[in-house]
Amino acid sequence: MKNIEIINFEIKGDSRGSLISIENLKNIPFDIKRIYYIFNTLDDVIRGKHAHKKLEQVLICLSGSCYIDLDTGIEKTSFLLDSPQKGLYIKDMVWREMRNFSSNTVLLVLASDFYNENDYIRNYESFILETNKLNGKNS
Ligand code: TYD
Repeated sequence: MKNIEIINFEIKGDSRGSLISIENLKNIPFDIKRIYYIFNTLDDVIRGKHAHKKLEQVLICLSGSCYIDLDTGIEKTSFLLDSPQKGLYIKDMVWREMRNFSSNTVLLVLASDFYNENDYIRNYESFILETNKLNGKNS
């Protein structure tokens, strides 16, 4: 789907356990400028509810699980993030909502730029207007 991909990280495993290494512009397709993580989220909470005008992110559920609902303005899809081996790569202009956090969930987010509130679209109707413009629709 446009602006959404799954990245499968290679596990450097041996008899002691597992290790995944993350490297700028190698297994992450952009230069990482910011890292944040979401934890202690209650299972009835919905986070996100925004899109970014120009930002690339990779979401990795290091522990526990959560669902990520994505909407490009044209198509909608959902992903269950339940493995530290799976990265959800999201580019510009994708509305995202995160829900059903299990009690031990730690959601790691790698981002291509610093935090900038001006890059957020936090109103769904504004998001649809913007995506319609980008897709050459009038309404
Ligand atoms: P918010 O965007 O509401 O989080 P989510 O997308 O998970 O629902 O962010 C929560 C607060 O943290 C808000 O006040 C903005 C702030 N924040 C930062 O200061 N830096 C960051 O990198 C992020 C992602 C959020």
